[in-house]
Amino acid sequence: MAAQVIDGKAFAAKLRERVGRQAAQFEQAAGRKAGLAVVLVGEDPASQVYVRSKHKATVAANMESFEHRLPADAGEAELLALVERLNADPAVDGILVQLPLPGHLDEQAVIAAISPDKDVDGFHVTNAGRLAVGQSGFVPCTPLGCMMLLTDRLGDLSGLEAVVIGRSNIVGKPMAQLLLDANATVTIAHSRTKDLPVVVRRADIVVAAVGRAEMVKAEWLKPQATVIDVGINRLPAEPGTDKGRLVGDVDYAGAQGVAAAITPVPGGVGPMTIAVLLRNTLVAAYRNEA
Ligand code: GUN
Repeated sequence: MAAQVIDGKAFAAKLRERVGRQAAQFEQAAGRKAGLAVVLVGEDPASQVYVRSKHKATVAANMESFEHRLPADAGEAELLALVERLNADPAVDGILVQLPLPGHLDEQAVIAAISPDKDVDGFHVTNAGRLAVGQSGFVPCTPLGCMMLLTDRLGDLSGLEAVVIGRSNIVGKPMAQLLLDANATVTIAHSRTKDLPVVVRRADIVVAAVGRAEMVKAEWLKPQATVIDVGINRLPAEPGTDKGRLVGDVDYAGAQGVAAAITPVPGGVGPMTIAVLLRNTLVAAYRNEA
């Protein structure tokens, strides 16, 4: 039987609607809209697309969107001064500096400058630390979105074997923390893991976040596993086309014959990221008013 498709696009649309309704209630109660500031440095085409989608989704969810664009050669002092202004601005509940930054800027220094209470990306060390010790803070949007899809599908994750492939600060590490908090037995695999197929084979839950097209093969999966594919990779263009297909980190067609359920690419995890960002921004707004 073919795996069920986990429809992240539909789930995210429902979450955005719910957050939009709650944001309207916030506005009624607070006399102002919840506000998200997005900072884009330079003209990276993919980042421009993301920032535009975030702006549209923010406005559609009854929140204020503040966009700040700096030239690619902006200095670190200029960017840090902007972050400081946003930290001090009571109309701004959440701040997101779009990554990657141009190479001459120190990403860690910029993230460290964001007030942890406005860090709706959950990238600040204070929020990473809060997650690590089980205190409430902001959790990175992509792994939190993956958890929502998993708990919606599986309910209680207690005792399940989860394998996270990838150890980035943005996805792999926080994903593992969240699964651990949900009482899964968690393994983090990465580029140096020996015999990855054997490790993946024991997983009831596989979260693939490595950024390598179709790397996880169907034969590696335990029958009836639940597969969350965070990867978005563009294949080389086929002859006669100008753009290659988008694929995940998992061989989707093959995995469909083995897994119980799997997220598609596109339309799986991707749409969840912005929906969770809006949710985090509304949480920040309520905390700022409290
Ligand atoms: N670039 C790609 N994804 C993200 C994200 O979730 N947050 C930020 N700040 N930059 C990104």
